[in-house]
Amino acid sequence: MPSNKRLLVLPGDGIGPEVMREVRRVIDWMDRRRAVSFDIEEDLVGGAAIEARGTPIAEATVDRAKAADAVLFGAVGGPQWDGLGFDRRPELAILTLRRELGLFANLRPAVVMDALVSASTLKPEVVQGLDLMIVRESTGGIYFGEPRGVTTLPDGSKRGVNTEVYTTEEIERVARVGFELAKRRQGRLCSVEKANVMESGLLWRQTVTALGAAEFPEVQLSHMYADNCAMQLVRNPRQFDVIVTSNLFGDLLSDLASMLTGSLGMLPSATIGAAGADGLRHALYEPIHGSAPDIAGKGVANPLAQILSFAMLLRYSFGLDADAALVEQACGRVLASGLRTPDVMAPGCARVGTQVMGEAVLRELDKLAA
Ligand code: IPM
Ligand code: MG
Repeated sequence: MPSNKRLLVLPGDGIGPEVMREVRRVIDWMDRRRAVSFDIEEDLVGGAAIEARGTPIAEATVDRAKAADAVLFGAVGGPQWDGLGFDRRPELAILTLRRELGLFANLRPAVVMDALVSASTLKPEVVQGLDLMIVRESTGGIYFGEPRGVTTLPDGSKRGVNTEVYTTEEIERVARVGFELAKRRQGRLCSVEKANVMESGLLWRQTVTALGAAEFPEVQLSHMYADNCAMQLVRNPRQFDVIVTSNLFGDLLSDLASMLTGSLGMLPSATIGAAGADGLRHALYEPIHGSAPDIAGKGVANPLAQILSFAMLLRYSFGLDADAALVEQACGRVLASGLRTPDVMAPGCARVGTQVMGEAVLRELDKLAA
């Protein structure tokens, strides 16, 4: 009898708890119907944790995350906490988890499902069949670099500083994730930086080039400046297979790529760390969308990105590819059946809310497993 998988579920703020509720039902379904069971703990993060405990993430929560086999994260933040300092903001919850668990590679797929081709603001012929993966470095770069801060100058004006820093090792380990993924996909990796203006970008390019030549000669490696990459992503996104890039550029480019698919509400992500001696690696799964305070509490949020994040968890943390595919297929079928939350609404489709969407996924799972 295989032991249960230990999951830590962190719904967070805004629409986080609403969409997570639907995932919990998918997890219950897995428990009942498939050969996999989960032990689930749930905890507060972000604004919810600030209100209850005065901190965006308690130390005990970080410890629980370290002890878990995988973390399923919702979203954090909201206007009521916007005035807080950087050492207290809700966003610190996700940044702390990335850093404390050593989650250095953020995998952000942008896949256009056939049923949603018309939801994109780009022409169907540009995005149809799109399937790209952005690997974003997530524990380094300007997000964490020192020095940082705001100082007051002698004349009373201020000076704000953040620093982009990357070491050879940091670049190599995230590039390796990109190469490995490319190997399992179409065999193409595009490394993105600003080697034309940044020393750290030049080091990035040289390091990725050397690693590719030494360890991944079978992967077709190309390089692109980040500004050009943004342009190419809207011009002809299907030219890309896997993109590997720094924390900040990855943040921007992945939001851009997500809109190629029509809605932020559709896209999951995985953030993974190095494998430990036992072969297990820390990993956290979250939708790319944020807490969406404007629609929170209205029951209209699209739960699919959170459900698809759980599918990624099954695949990347536990190698449960068949179960992951089942969840993904169920989501695809729900969309094909014409049900739509407002974010992906299209003419002729039926507009539904979060809960109906979740129930439809369960129904499709029942059919697929029958
Ligand atoms: C993301 C978000 C975060 C980031 C914020 C919430 C700190 O935008 O996951 O892309 O910038 O990394
Ligand atoms: Mg972002």
